[in-house]
Amino acid sequence: MTMAKTEHPGELAPGTTDMLTVRDERTGQSYVIPIRDGTIRATDLSRIRTSADDPGLMTYDPGLMSTAAVKSAITFIDGDKGILRYRGYPIEEVAERSSFLEVAYLLLEGELPTDQQLAEWSDTITHHTFLHENIKKFIDGFRHDAHPMGILMSTVAALSTFYPEAKRIQDKPLRRSQIVRLIAKMPTIAAFAYRHAVGLPYSYPDNDLAYVGNFLNMMWKTTELKYKPDPILERALEILFILHADHEQNCSTSTVRVVGSSRADPYSAVAAGVGALYGPLHGGANEQVLRMLEGIGSLERVPEHIARVKAGELRLMGFGHRVYKSYDPRARLIKRVAEQVFTVTGRNPLLDIALELEKIALEDEYFIKHKLYPNVDFYSGLIYQAMGFPVEMFPVLFAIGRTPGWLAQWEEGLLDPDQRISRPRQIYTGPAERHVEG
Ligand code: CMC
Repeated sequence: MTMAKTEHPGELAPGTTDMLTVRDERTGQSYVIPIRDGTIRATDLSRIRTSADDPGLMTYDPGLMSTAAVKSAITFIDGDKGILRYRGYPIEEVAERSSFLEVAYLLLEGELPTDQQLAEWSDTITHHTFLHENIKKFIDGFRHDAHPMGILMSTVAALSTFYPEAKRIQDKPLRRSQIVRLIAKMPTIAAFAYRHAVGLPYSYPDNDLAYVGNFLNMMWKTTELKYKPDPILERALEILFILHADHEQNCSTSTVRVVGSSRADPYSAVAAGVGALYGPLHGGANEQVLRMLEGIGSLERVPEHIARVKAGELRLMGFGHRVYKSYDPRARLIKRVAEQVFTVTGRNPLLDIALELEKIALEDEYFIKHKLYPNVDFYSGLIYQAMGFPVEMFPVLFAIGRTPGWLAQWEEGLLDPDQRISRPRQIYTGPAERHVEG
């Protein structure tokens, strides 16, 4: 076999040692490909070809398990060590010390706000919580039993028709206006979707309340003149929103980025993100956890359920994660929040089943081998249920929390000179060329 000359498909800086040498056994040709940031550029592979009409080597990576599609400075995760940081700050610190709007500011701006910046930011958000009255009519058009996630997704998309200037995504002040509107209006749409389902009149935003307290007011206010949120529950929900605020390139966030890559307005991009979040393997998982715990029904039936999971009949919802191969740090924090919430609401009877499931699973060889640990959704549903939220609202709560992350990632993508319209390649498996007879 002849050893052909070595080609350098990618640019190599003189003296570079971070290189990958690939030998193509089809041609005997070797290639040296630079390694940057622990990655090789997939396009560097396209120069590896067998003939002039060969389109070049591609990678096949369903679910993008091993493909970095973007560069991002927002969130850091070390899945093996169970580390999650927003803009460098450990999740434990921001969850303990910050408000949700402070975290939203951090994700969007890269720095924690000063007191004055936070006051201005909170004030701006507070003054954008109202919805155009036509949006109310739009929500009224849904059937009484419409899933609130469907209402949320459609209503967020509909917002783009109310703010047509949102299309001017290169205009920074205009971009900021849409970001403010989305963060501010998400809880209002969410609460209106709930009240539509239960047939209650809509409760309008109360500017005297903070972001989370106001959301609780819009959810639960009935005849009282002024709704007063319970401070423990208000803070608990705020922590849950913080824990959900960003999680780097998860399914919904990458959906937002993909839609954003076509230069769509942020309402359309976020509506698509809500759609991705709706699925039971993503934000729909907390709803599924509750249904699973209710289905198990008693402690005695836990081993039987575990056996069915191990037999491959079903998945243990709220367990496992694409990135975390140890305990999800958010699940650890949520477990603590659950204890505080239950001091106010009383213990959720499903907690015992959840604890037993966790105990058995963590000791079981199948779960140890597969590195399956509780994820953020395992306990969040129990808290939401104890606070009175129906299960259909669980993914909606996740969406409220995730909105600042979606927007920070959308904007980061937009400003990234490397961004191209997202357009994956495929391996064609259909028939070869054929013709219609006759
Ligand atoms: N129960 C039982 N087995 C599981 C589970 C589970 N929850 N999750 C993964 N496995 C097994 C799976 O059967 C496979 O086994 P094998 O290699 O023997 O075929 C192996 O673990 C790898 O699974 P995978 O589906 O290839 O892993 P993934 O990284 O593609 O999936 C996941 C990640 C979160 C979709 C998955 O763990 C899952 O379906 N979990 C349940 C749903 C859930 O809780 N989702 C919320 C995720 S956290 C919130 C969020 O970010 O949305």
